[in-house]
Parts: sequence; C-alpha cells; structure tokens
Amino acid sequence: MNYPLFSKENNSLAKKYLTKEVFETIKDKKTSLGYGLERLIHSGLNNDDSEIGVYAGDKESYSTFSLLISPIIESYHGFTTSSLHKSNMNPEDLDTPNPDKEGMYILSTRIRVGRNLENMPLGAAISKEERNRLEAMVVDALSLLEGELAGEYYALDGMSKDVQNRLIKDHFLFKEGDRFLEYAGLNRDWPKGRGIYHNINKTFLVWVNEEDQLRIISMQEGGDIKEVFTRLVTAIKRMESRLTFSYSEKLGYITSCPTNLGTAMRASVHIALPNLSNRMDKFTAITKQYHLQIRGIDGEHTQSKGHIFDISNARRLGVTEVQAVEEMYHGVVALIAAEKALD
Ligand code: ADP
Ligand code: ARG
Repeated sequence: MNYPLFSKENNSLAKKYLTKEVFETIKDKKTSLGYGLERLIHSGLNNDDSEIGVYAGDKESYSTFSLLISPIIESYHGFTTSSLHKSNMNPEDLDTPNPDKEGMYILSTRIRVGRNLENMPLGAAISKEERNRLEAMVVDALSLLEGELAGEYYALDGMSKDVQNRLIKDHFLFKEGDRFLEYAGLNRDWPKGRGIYHNINKTFLVWVNEEDQLRIISMQEGGDIKEVFTRLVTAIKRMESRLTFSYSEKLGYITSCPTNLGTAMRASVHIALPNLSNRMDKFTAITKQYHLQIRGIDGEHTQSKGHIFDISNARRLGVTEVQAVEEMYHGVVALIAAEKALD
C-alpha cells in the first residue's frame, strides 16, 4: 500500500494522525482476521466530509493500529487510552429530574447503546454466514424479554418499503445506504441479516447488524430521562444472560467506530429551541461547554427542521453511563434556561 492521498478538503482525524511516520510503521500490519490499514481508513479516504474516517474490523484493530487510532480516540473523547474506563448503569445513581415538566421544549428522549458480540468480527469484517448466525443469536436473546419489553423481530429482508420508510420517518429505524458505512464494508449483503425488534409501544427497540451488531434503544415522548434509562438497563441486563458483549478494560464496549467506544451510549432529546436557533453563537457556546453534540431532526448528517434539534452527549469513553446521561441532562437544563432568557 502506498501512502494514501487524502484530498485537500478532507479534515478527518484519520488524515491528521496518519503521518508518513505512522504510516511506515503500520502499513503492512494485519489483525488475525486479515484486517489491514487500507480497509480501516477506506471510508475516511473516500468521504471527504468524514470527521473521524476509520472503522475497526475487529477488537484487535484497536491494538494493531493503535498508533493511528489512539490519538483519534483521545482527540474525540478527551480521554487517554492508557486509563481504565469505568461503567455504572445503576439507575439509582442517576440524578436527572425532568428538565421540562410542562412539556414546552422537549419532544422526546432516546438513549441508545452500541454492542457487538465477543469473539465475532465487527460488521466491517464479518462474513455473511457469521452475520446470519449472529442475527439468530440476538433474536433468541430477545425472546427472553417480557412485560413492557416484549415484542417482535422484523427482518429487513422482506419488509415492505412502505413499512420501512414509515419506521425511518418516525425515528425508529436506521436509514439505508449510508455512504460512510458503505465504504467501510458495513453494508455488504444488505438487507440480509439486518432487522429491528420493537415492543408494542415502540419504547424499546433493537437494531440488528447495522453499524454495530446491536443498537439497543429506549425512547419515549417527553423528558423523563430516568424512565428511559431504567428501561434500557433492565433490557440490557436481561439480554446479557444469553449474550456476551465485546468489552475491554481500557476501551469499554467495543464498537465499529472509535466515537462509540466506552459506554457506546448516546443519550439525546429532540428539543425545540426557536430563540437559540437564531443565536447560533450562544447555542454552540453552550453545547461546547457541556460537551454536547447537535444533530438534525432525522439523526446524524441531517438538518434541523422547525427549530427542533437532536442534542446528545458527545463523549462516551472515560465517563460512566450515568455520567454520560447526566452530561446531556445538565446541558439540556442550560439550553432551556438560555432559550427562556431570550423570550
Ligand atoms: P444513533 O443515535 O444510533 O447514533 P442517528 O443519529 O442516525 O443514530 O439517530 C437514529 C434515529 O434516532 C434518527 O431517526 C433520529 O432522529 C432518532 N432520534 C435520535 N434521538 C431522538 C430523540 N431524542 N427522540 C426521537 N428520535 C430520536
Ligand atoms: N465515519 C463518519 C465520520 O468520520 C462518522 C463518524 C461518527 N458517526 C458514526 N455513526 N460512527 O465522520
């Protein structure tokens, strides 16, 4: 492999940290599965608007290519990869009273985690057979869920376009044809092996074999963050009685993209901020201070509509799950106060 020519417009962390020196040291390395540098950076090299630009093919990618990935992780999460990551999913420790009891600003709350199975390649390097086997294992674990969490699994293969589009529009299902995932090899054999589980009320959902093998999601209308968190944790614990998730002491839960390592948790609200949306300087000063990420109404890489934003914690590694949710909570409290002050 020759030294890759990232375009001038490319501002990804992959480009930034793949210096000639680093390249020379890692260019011929491969993980036991045969995952190499070319595949690791393929998405970032071919999508000039990448911010990160790498996708791991397996857990080993993080150690084999640490010379490139560790600075990316440190830059994104603000956490050194030599420290230990800590987990805390105890809902009793979560202090997040509803920041919007009158329901003036927050439309809905959603918390998701990414998970991948131990001893399986990640999506970028998984075979069709392994992916299908994994889907069956997940469906089997989901059959354990009872009560409010009980639901059904719907394979994407065979789902009508109408149903699929409705689920996407209503914010329940992943989109199709993401070009970042495409170049990472994560969309191979689509739609086979992919699907969604949800309970009757669609307050608990699991995406299977998209960017990560599992995205476990709890969501509902309004701003009761604790209820959303508690439901998520209950479901994860139940699923863990049958599935073992890939985890490392330093990196936490192993995910395809380094931005999701650690808690792999993104806690978000859909929130209407008409005043702040006309004061982007104020808006971004707050999101920066509270380590928040702003996304559009249809998720990542989409625009806000009707002054509604998706506000979530940006850091996922080096904070516990409770802290990640509380980071989002404190930021949202500050945003609502600033919005009110502009009335
Ligand atoms: P992820 O959250 O898995 O990183 P996306 O940013 O693409 O992926 O979001 C997935 C879907 O979840 C999108 O349809 C998005 O609008 C929806 N979503 C995110 N946060 C909320 C929320 N608080 N309320 C309702 N829908 C949400
Ligand atoms: N690969 C994309 C980039 O570098 C997305 C990174 C974060 N998002 C994600 N879904 N993993 O910008």
